[in-house]
Amino acid sequence: MQAPENMRLLFTAGEIRSRLERLAREIASKVKPSERPIAIVVLQGAFIFAADLLRKLPPAFGIEIAFLRCQSYGSGTRSSGRVLLLQDIDPEIDLRGRTVLLLDDILDTGLTMNFLVSHLKRRGAERVRVCVLLHRRRVARPAKSGARKKRLKPEFAAFTIGPDFVVGYGLDYAGKYRHLPMLAAVKLPRSKR
Ligand code: IMP
Ligand code: MG
Repeated sequence: MQAPENMRLLFTAGEIRSRLERLAREIASKVKPSERPIAIVVLQGAFIFAADLLRKLPPAFGIEIAFLRCQSYGSGTRSSGRVLLLQDIDPEIDLRGRTVLLLDDILDTGLTMNFLVSHLKRRGAERVRVCVLLHRRRVARPAKSGARKKRLKPEFAAFTIGPDFVVGYGLDYAGKYRHLPMLAAVKLPRSKR
């Protein structure tokens, strides 16, 4: 399938599939069953990434799966500089002594992941291992200052990207394009960058 006309193709569905096969093998070799791992999927952006990646883990891997919902972007392409936890994981889930495999679509300024790592540790997680589909090499300047201190590095990342605003495979631009099977860069008017 082709990327829409106003976009530039970054990674095809096939490239994503083979990269995730390798990533799943890497995760399975590093995360031990004794850590009683639980995958926590950050909605909405990580839903396709998580569904595909987790199904590539070995059948006997024994990982639990939970969801939370977070928002740091409004409808635009710049971080609002603030993270909102719109919905936490189910209250009966006990994270004490366990490893969380935290799955998100992209680590951009790192604000979301910093916030979530602290939140999950406060809830008792022994260790939070950050896993993202995309790691942005250069930081897109956050709307408010202070968002950039202590930028976290993901332990697992499928692809590293530059400053382009990316859509598809779960990532949206103003709520659209999440359904695209590939990853593509949006050509934005200068005023929106
Ligand atoms: P951070 O808190 O700045 O690291 O931003 C993380 C969140 O911003 C991600 O979970 C995405 O929802 C959103 N985001 C950042 N860059 C992009 C992009 O290029 N396309 C779509 N969403 C993005
Ligand atoms: Mg997101």
